[in-house]
Amino acid sequence: MKKYNFSAGPSILPEEVFSKASEAVKNYNNSGLSILEYSHRSSEIVEILEEARSLVLDLMQLNSNQYSALFLQGGASAQFFMVPYNLLDADKTCAIVDTGKWSANAIKEAANFGSVKVVASSKDNTYRNIPKIPVVCKDFAYLHITTNNTIYGTQMDFIPQAETLMIADMSSDIFSRKWDYSQYDLIYAGAQKNLGPAGATLVVVKNEILGKVQRKIPTLLDYQVHIDKKSSFNTPPVFAVYVCGLTLKWLKDLGIDTIEAQNNNKAELLYKEIDRNPFFEAYAEIGSRSKMNVNFTMLDNSLEDSFITHCAKSGVVNIKGHRSVGGFRASLYNAMQVEGVQKLVECMQSFKA
Ligand SMILES: Cc1ncc(COP(=O)(O)O)c(C=O)c1O
Repeated sequence: MKKYNFSAGPSILPEEVFSKASEAVKNYNNSGLSILEYSHRSSEIVEILEEARSLVLDLMQLNSNQYSALFLQGGASAQFFMVPYNLLDADKTCAIVDTGKWSANAIKEAANFGSVKVVASSKDNTYRNIPKIPVVCKDFAYLHITTNNTIYGTQMDFIPQAETLMIADMSSDIFSRKWDYSQYDLIYAGAQKNLGPAGATLVVVKNEILGKVQRKIPTLLDYQVHIDKKSSFNTPPVFAVYVCGLTLKWLKDLGIDTIEAQNNNKAELLYKEIDRNPFFEAYAEIGSRSKMNVNFTMLDNSLEDSFITHCAKSGVVNIKGHRSVGGFRASLYNAMQVEGVQKLVECMQSFKA
């Protein structure tokens, strides 16, 4: 039976990416070698890394003289401390918008390096909305935001205004829509949602913001080192980057406009059914609803397990919500086809208590 995987990450990737990646594991480019056994210094792998890095900037429409794209390790979680390590002096304050668990982690880590001011929060509303964000002035070292909150299913549909640097965790909505990436000074994203397998973390950084902090930065945590070494200071996660490159090529061929239209259509289809169906209720407030992670609950939560079983019979899997929120979460990343969302909607319509 065909499976429709709504997992929040690691998650679905385009079918052709899975098939090219598996072929490369067996026999990369008819070389008789697996991609897994190539040296990261070989011309083949250097080319893969360079192509992936340049596709990132190309898709973001960023100037390669101003920005660098890096594939690092440690997940998006490592960026919670790498960002302040590189950008926050001990006597300075950074501004962070608190939209849930991941921004809370960013706050906790930044506080190890300097001061943190939470400039907006939706905690009092159990993170059901994106709060109004004030213009952040230049006294702050930077403003940190999370554009899409994977756990709660909320998403920013605007770019905040800041007179200082703007840093964004885009782990769960990167490349999902047309976006003015040039408004940001540093963007990061764990690959395992819209990009590729777990193991690679994409960082896009504006070169000029680096080299300004007073402290010494450990070599491996210094963005400038990774820029100078073309993202290969030490052994990079070659296979993960290769798969990201395949997804990026798929994206470029399809076009971000098309992806955005598809994502809008999928989200609209699902929210429409949630709002219509008396069994279900959306978690996020209208105006803050994510097009990537759609969270919903059941008015009678004793029926949740039977709904999950009902969905599994149609191949609809991994819709259980995050343990801190409960209910359901359907992740509609770029590779999820509209057919999968239609299946889920059919399951919602055919469900009987
Ligand atoms: C928005 C966001 N930020 C950060 C993380 C942490 O990512 P990682 O597991 O790659 O450290 C996640 C994980 O789901 C996430 O959704």
